Amino acid sequence: MDEADKRSPLAARETTRAGADVPTHVGIIMDGNGRWAAQRSLPRFEGHRRGVEALRRTVRAAIDLRIAYLTVYSFSSENWTRPPDEVSGLMGLLKRFIRNDLADLHSNNVRIRIIGERAGLPLDIGPLLTEAEDVTRDNTGLSLVIAFNYGGRQEILAAARALALDAAAGRIDPAAIDARTFERRLFTTGIPDPDLIIRTSGEQRISNFLPWQAAYSEFVFTPVLWPDFDRGCLEQAIEEFRRRERRFGGVAVAAAQKTAS
Ligand code: IPE
Ligand code: IPE
Ligand code: MG
Repeated sequence: MDEADKRSPLAARETTRAGADVPTHVGIIMDGNGRWAAQRSLPRFEGHRRGVEALRRTVRAAIDLRIAYLTVYSFSSENWTRPPDEVSGLMGLLKRFIRNDLADLHSNNVRIRIIGERAGLPLDIGPLLTEAEDVTRDNTGLSLVIAFNYGGRQEILAAARALALDAAAGRIDPAAIDARTFERRLFTTGIPDPDLIIRTSGEQRISNFLPWQAAYSEFVFTPVLWPDFDRGCLEQAIEEFRRRERRFGGVAVAAAQKTAS
């Protein structure tokens, strides 16, 4: 085990540049756009459109709170099974978000990363994603990670396949594969695991969002539908996170002190 492996996840957290007591990495499963629209007898697209506004508010709040990484689930590998007009509406919104907001995000020192499968995306989307990443690559403020065409099982399978190919070709020793080697093959390589994952709309499941990375994440579920999410909701979720005690398989701090004395 090398030095980095020996550090506890908590120690890693203390050395990041996030604001005091703020989770370093917040993930959000932005759910409930369709129900928000249905409650108002509006088309689902209107819910998605208002969802983009909630995303803008949330990014602004994350910058102000000095959160280091914000990962938002915007389109899952399984969302392709939705009606074609809804899928193309969602693609249009992503394109518009990047075209309209890239300059503003860049001027706010935001670094954009996109995680998910790029192969097979519509031809007008791939280059936009690459441009957003390239333009903001050297920014040092909030890292905004957009999970787009993302599926956690697919990500794990791709990593396993890549390692199997390397082993078959004699480039790596299968016995030497550990968590660090594996993580280097994930879309999230270099990004710390999420400390807090928020899911809106009352659903309590992860729907294929970061299954590897969420091994020790804290979850906060809120009934608020995504288009209604705002700074107050984010702050509330962080408050809840602060009340949690993370143990990472160890024992509570108070119990550990008792054992030591
Ligand atoms: C989340 O809202 C947006 C995406 C999954 C792209 P939904 O569209 O899932 O909204 P509900 O769950 O139907 O209300
Ligand atoms: C998860 O929401 C995907 C995103 C928020 C992008 P879904 O609405 O697709 O999840 P399920 O189908 O309710 O599990
Ligand atoms: Mg949903």
